[in-house]
Amino acid sequence: MAKRIILDCDPGHDDAVAILLALASPQEIELIGLTVVGGNVPLASTLLNARKVVTLANRRDPVYAGCPRPMMREIVTAEHVHGETGLDSGSGQPLGDPEVPVQQQHAVNFIIDTVRSEPEQSITLVATGPLTNVAVAFAMAPDIIPRLNELVVMGGAGFEPGNITPAAEFNVYVDPHAARAVFDSGVNLTMFGLDITHQMLITPPRLKALAAQEGKVCAVVADLLDFFNRYDISKYGWEGAPLHDPCTIAYLIEPTIFELSPMHVVVDTQEGPSLGRTVTDWWGASDEQPNVTVATKGDADQFFSLITQRLATLH
Ligand code: RIB
Ligand code: CA
Repeated sequence: MAKRIILDCDPGHDDAVAILLALASPQEIELIGLTVVGGNVPLASTLLNARKVVTLANRRDPVYAGCPRPMMREIVTAEHVHGETGLDSGSGQPLGDPEVPVQQQHAVNFIIDTVRSEPEQSITLVATGPLTNVAVAFAMAPDIIPRLNELVVMGGAGFEPGNITPAAEFNVYVDPHAARAVFDSGVNLTMFGLDITHQMLITPPRLKALAAQEGKVCAVVADLLDFFNRYDISKYGWEGAPLHDPCTIAYLIEPTIFELSPMHVVVDTQEGPSLGRTVTDWWGASDEQPNVTVATKGDADQFFSLITQRLATLH
């Protein structure tokens, strides 16, 4: 039976691939709605980008606007990674204009109303941007926390250093207070942090395999990832950029791609060099009970084959 999901995102190149992978996998994923948050680029752009990506897939799935900024701090964006539009392409060709409207309802209210109205444990929430929408939903309606089947987050880092500061991963760093509230909420939380996403590199053979597929969607995504690769290849000296966000969707489609372990994780919200660090008790050094299932290993070839095969079905 397909997992019924709400995908909260900040597109962003890797968010875009996560959206398309979900749309391309109707046997395993029923996308109930896309909720959008400010993150990689300001909300106006992440919202436009989400609508463009849904249109690229020839779909009309509902898109909801969420919080434009973190709960306490000023927003930090990542145009240096994603370009001014948030979806800059290697060729410079922009995505086509969107053909889906923005829903009237606020994203946070959509999350709350959907989880309240659907059967208990029937909704999986996936978050691939800063956790502001999720934390505000949990604060407004704590009753939805136990009703959720699972919250799958792309964010944080256990062993890996940070990618926006030496200590912090971008999604958690942008809104550390939201992340702290969510990680401490008791929700059934699965975390795909940099420890796993840095194993999923968009190497030249993988990018070529995607570009070689029939159909417009794969060609456009290969062009987008050609741009997305540039910053991280220059930063890390790796063969390709890590493809972060689709790990969450691939896990819901084919969990055997990944290895996961229960760990205690707490988000540091102290101003200073460790702000936004997900302090992860990898070896059980503390007496704290695990509150998060952390992805530790993954099969990158299986991951990229899944993405390529599924995106090739979109026309
Ligand atoms: O640190 C990587 C994460 O931050 C990804 O979700 C990327 O899209 C950005 O949101
Ligand atoms: Ca993202």
